[in-house]
Amino acid sequence: MKIGSIAQAIVALQRGDVVGMPTETVYGLAGRIDQRSSIEKIFQVKKRPFFDPLIVHVSDIQMAQKLTTIWNPLIEQLTKVFWPGPLTLVLPKSTTVDDLVTSGLQSVGIRMPRHPMALELIRQIQVPLAAPSANQFGRTSPTRCDHVLSEFLDYESVVLDGGESEIGLESTVLAIFPEDKNSEAATQEFMQGRWNLSILRAGMILEKDIRVALKEFDNFKFLPSIEKKMAPGQMKHHYMPSIPLILFEQNDLMEFPSELEVLKLAEQEFDRLPDKIDEVPIKKPKSFHHAERIFLDFDPILAARRFYSQLREASSNKKVDVLYMVINEGHREEIWKALMDRLTKAASLRFRKNRTYWELI
Ligand code: TXA
Ligand code: MG
Repeated sequence: MKIGSIAQAIVALQRGDVVGMPTETVYGLAGRIDQRSSIEKIFQVKKRPFFDPLIVHVSDIQMAQKLTTIWNPLIEQLTKVFWPGPLTLVLPKSTTVDDLVTSGLQSVGIRMPRHPMALELIRQIQVPLAAPSANQFGRTSPTRCDHVLSEFLDYESVVLDGGESEIGLESTVLAIFPEDKNSEAATQEFMQGRWNLSILRAGMILEKDIRVALKEFDNFKFLPSIEKKMAPGQMKHHYMPSIPLILFEQNDLMEFPSELEVLKLAEQEFDRLPDKIDEVPIKKPKSFHHAERIFLDFDPILAARRFYSQLREASSNKKVDVLYMVINEGHREEIWKALMDRLTKAASLRFRKNRTYWELI
């Protein structure tokens, strides 16, 4: 890939190629939803398994409405408060959405990003763009243009340089579905129906923010989880850096492992890991000479913004064998939830302090 203009990106999209698109969360690898070959290309270029559905990006509300069979005051309110922005709504899909985009599901993820370049691109091409994060499957998401370039060195197309992503973590994915699947009322446009909401992926828009936005509504409830087949993208390992990461959970701020301790634990435990978990290849250190600690920012907003960049930067140091991070009780607060989710999935090994030793979890 190379850096290009919006005009060049349009040309590439018109001929069925996929392009790098900046958004406020992470960079996306975008293709037109009305061309099956473009959608196929997204999966091929990313080496993404077909069972994991794509998010469709729109530049206005009318575009979103055409993708789904429901649009009610509750959805209207959520889009009013959070769009454009880092909230993906999973809604029943209309027939205009290709099954390839949704991995055969009856629902579609829709989001209006707030990066001006993404909005401009979609506005100009006049077609919604399906876009997963612009990284090889299972790996760290890109938050800068050069990250995208390094993920797709051999693929000939363009990426728009939109600077560093403001949020730095992927959008909150919120599924909305009728409480009673057979209820006629539920599919009507007005308030009669009752709705179940469920956060399928944590992001920087929190459940409590959604509750505040919906304070005038009493026709919904949050479910902590939904059937696995309705949310196929929940891999245990994901977002993995090219150098393996180890996570240490401390009970007490004074406990953290020395570099030597980290290397010793790594040497003991990496051997026992399989080469692949959930289709995601697990990288293992070749030697155990140097471990580097990555520090999270104290401010959760800044920590989120910088996290993926930090992982990439630390993994570019060829002298480092393993990366490690230390987290504590304070990180259990809701504002840290999205980052802790990514961290846990990015880590190949996790340890918790158990009195005198680090216990593998
Ligand atoms: O912030 C973001 O959401 C970024 C930017 C580029 O918009 N995109 C992104 O896409 O993170 P991706 O493909 O890396 O993650 C999409 C997530 C996956 O976990 C997928 O399983 C879930 O959204 N998803 C998409 N459509 C869905 C659907 N119909 N039902 C359930 N989950 C869905
Ligand atoms: Mg992704």
